[in-house]
Amino acid sequence: MNFVGACPPPQASESVSPSVSDFLQSIPPARATRLRERLERELPRLRRCLDPLYGQTPCFDSFFDTVVLNALASAERRDAELWQLDLRREADPAWHQRGLSGYCTYVDKLAGTLAGVQQRIGYLRELGVNYLHLLPFLKAGSAPNDGGFAVASFDEVEPALGTLADLRSLCRALRQSDISLCSDFVLNHVSHEHAWARAARAGDPRYLPYFHWLASEAEVQAREQHLVQIFPATAPGNFTWIAERQAWVWTTFYPYQWDLNYAHPAVFADMAAALLNLANQGVDAFRLDSTGFLWKRAETNCMNQPEVHLIVQALRSLCAIAAPGVLLKAEAIMPTQDLPPYFGLGPVAGPECHLAYHSSLMAASWVALTEESPQLIEEVLRNTPELPVGASWLSYVRCHDDIGWNVLRPELLALGADPVARLDRAAAFLAGETPGSYARGARFQASAPGTVHGSNGMTAALVGLRPDLPADHPEQQKALRRLELMMSLCFFVGGLPLIYMGDELGQDNTSAAEMHARQGADGRELHRPYLDEKSLASRHQAATVAAHAFSLLQRLNRQRRARLSLGGPIRLQVLASRHPGLLVLQRNQEVGLFNFSATPCRLHLSELGKPALQNLSQEESQTVASVHLEGHGCVWLGA
Ligand code: GLC
Repeated sequence: MNFVGACPPPQASESVSPSVSDFLQSIPPARATRLRERLERELPRLRRCLDPLYGQTPCFDSFFDTVVLNALASAERRDAELWQLDLRREADPAWHQRGLSGYCTYVDKLAGTLAGVQQRIGYLRELGVNYLHLLPFLKAGSAPNDGGFAVASFDEVEPALGTLADLRSLCRALRQSDISLCSDFVLNHVSHEHAWARAARAGDPRYLPYFHWLASEAEVQAREQHLVQIFPATAPGNFTWIAERQAWVWTTFYPYQWDLNYAHPAVFADMAAALLNLANQGVDAFRLDSTGFLWKRAETNCMNQPEVHLIVQALRSLCAIAAPGVLLKAEAIMPTQDLPPYFGLGPVAGPECHLAYHSSLMAASWVALTEESPQLIEEVLRNTPELPVGASWLSYVRCHDDIGWNVLRPELLALGADPVARLDRAAAFLAGETPGSYARGARFQASAPGTVHGSNGMTAALVGLRPDLPADHPEQQKALRRLELMMSLCFFVGGLPLIYMGDELGQDNTSAAEMHARQGADGRELHRPYLDEKSLASRHQAATVAAHAFSLLQRLNRQRRARLSLGGPIRLQVLASRHPGLLVLQRNQEVGLFNFSATPCRLHLSELGKPALQNLSQEESQTVASVHLEGHGCVWLGA
């Protein structure tokens, strides 16, 4: 998109421009009327976001008009079914808060192609999920491409996975089964093979400003002093030398992922257009990848800058005009204290993301398991704010990324602990380095001594399930309890729980042979196996690990839906208990007991000041006044 040219006279800020007015007159009246209403609400918001970002650039009004017209054109193209869905969701903005539960997978790992995923819809329904997050499926740069997170075209599906027609067909089929599709939207960077990057590398003046260029080593050094390292072992540094330009380009992640320059208005306009175009294929939700890194500011760590929120709120506003049924989910793997702004609760107030990953809760759960104490979870939950109406946390046990430890530093510091030492102990335990550890994970990006980065491994391997033992072996029984503990907590806390592919079958790590065969030196491949057909087939065979895990997750999905399908706000509270290993949570009228210790315990509900409650963790609930919990046992209780 190009904004160079003669500037039309500026518009009064909240009025509709003549071109917008002409456009609305040219489309069917029913849509035009609805779009006028949406514009009336959204234009002031959009201007409030875009003005501070781009108000100083020449032709701002022309830029603003183009962005709005593009959204309107997108709304006009939206097919009738999606338009109707938008209307229903606009009338019921809490539609996603009535027991949505999710499943996350790579397309190829689950089913080869998008058409293959369509064949797995029955399986997803059997599991009981109604939200499917497919990791990047758009055309990627040639391998290695960070599992598709280096996008080479926002308008094409990765040819090995299918076509745009396959995507539309999948979206339709999912919709018919009441499953929402979430797509990654990699908005911080593009592949160095994307047309914009190729043109910039060749010196095209239109695309050079799409990226951040540094001319001297001194500038690079000055910036590096303040920046974090995402992949310190495999991709140290944040800049990559481009010989053709005799300059460094900003590459926060891998050198082949070029950070986009959102200070350039055309970048925002093009990315907004790409997002709306994907929404029109039928995508229901976007995972806004690496959201925290979108804005660079000298002498800062270039994370979570206020402008990030203006950008995301502007995208939300454009969705509210052109695709209001669409959800935005922040992938901001940041400490809890930095997350409220992603829900529009920061200094830049306004509707922002509907969902955000609660990565501190996830990481703290793993620390709790290794320490046999829920202390860190309790601290994280105390720091977790209540969310605005219509917003929820995304809770998870594992995902395709490492368990990133550094998000927990603020909580650990508040507890007076040495964060590195304590996290290092958790990482050592999960890597099976600690004597007596049952875990079979691995450290990720372990680099300099005195630092701790992340841990890899499938849930099954981290909780100590072993492929060589039968499910009824006492050690497997203990590991299955740990699996249930982690999953059950994730489902109890009340947001949108997300199951990572393979966990529902207790699937093990990628095999050593396959790890060896895979391209690139990224340790996260350890938990990116192909769905194991043998486990899949044995999910109905009693006394297999797959059957245990699968029926557990089916039950959690059922229970959760039964309790939360009415929607409404969720209040989560930490209750005190005299058992040091026991986490006691109250969610509205329900109580969840999670024993992080390997030692059994008994709790009388009177100790919590509660009357007898129903045990909800059994298919036939029973009223109980006290509960015996096995080591690593858990239970949900309710009125
Ligand atoms: C996100 C993705 C991760 C990827 C990174 C860069 O954090 O989850 O897998 O490496 O973004 O795109």
